[in-house]
Amino acid sequence: MTRPNNMRISIIAAVADNGVIGRDNDLAWSLPDDMAFFKAITRGRHVVMGRRNYESIPHKYRPLPGRPNIVLSHNSEYDASPAHLVTSLDDALDIATSAKESECFIIGGGQVYTMALDAGVVDTMYLTHVHGSPKGDAFFPEFDSQEWTMQVIDNHPEDERHEFSFTICRYDRKQS
Ligand SMILES: NC(=O)c1ccc[n+]([C@@H]2O[C@H](COP(=O)([O-])OP(=O)(O)OC[C@H]3O[C@@H](n4cnc5c(N)ncnc54)[C@H](OP(=O)(O)O)[C@@H]3O)[C@@H](O)[C@H]2O)c1
Repeated sequence: MTRPNNMRISIIAAVADNGVIGRDNDLAWSLPDDMAFFKAITRGRHVVMGRRNYESIPHKYRPLPGRPNIVLSHNSEYDASPAHLVTSLDDALDIATSAKESECFIIGGGQVYTMALDAGVVDTMYLTHVHGSPKGDAFFPEFDSQEWTMQVIDNHPEDERHEFSFTICRYDRKQS
């Protein structure tokens, strides 16, 4: 399907200083105010995620409520119901396009972020820079910051509910 250029394709991720985004198919931290940002900005929007990320969400919270969930797997028999199952990123974006989505979010994990950036389809990235270097086994891909304009959305200190301070930034791909 030809995608109209009025659907923004956005990545949203929380990334530690060492590139870590997760450990043992879970997050490597608890940052409730960043989670609140994630919920607010993705509410009502199509969200696209890898099968591993989907399985990392506790049963009672999946599919993520209030937003159409699209799960990517190579296995066309995978039971993701009541989420949509797709076997390619193109098919995921086609579902969002057909629904006249204005902003489709790619919500990870590492394999899916890498695939989306490599495909060159990402317009915007909302990256929460987590100021720490926890151990992990899932990573955000390296990207060339020269290709993006960046603005800071919020700075959040470490406190009793947040084990790391963090900075939420928005990156928009520069027009070529
Ligand atoms: N910090 C954050 O913002 C954040 C956000 C999300 C997730 N995470 C963390 O990231 C980790 C999970 O990431 P991950 O890299 O291990 O896995 P993932 O990207 O969530 O999922 C990988 C799976 O997606 C499917 N897939 C990937 N590429 C595909 C393609 N081209 N076509 C069809 N299906 C494809 C495959 O499923 P099949 O094996 O079924 O074929 C693959 O095994 C967890 O630790 C999670 O907590 C962190």
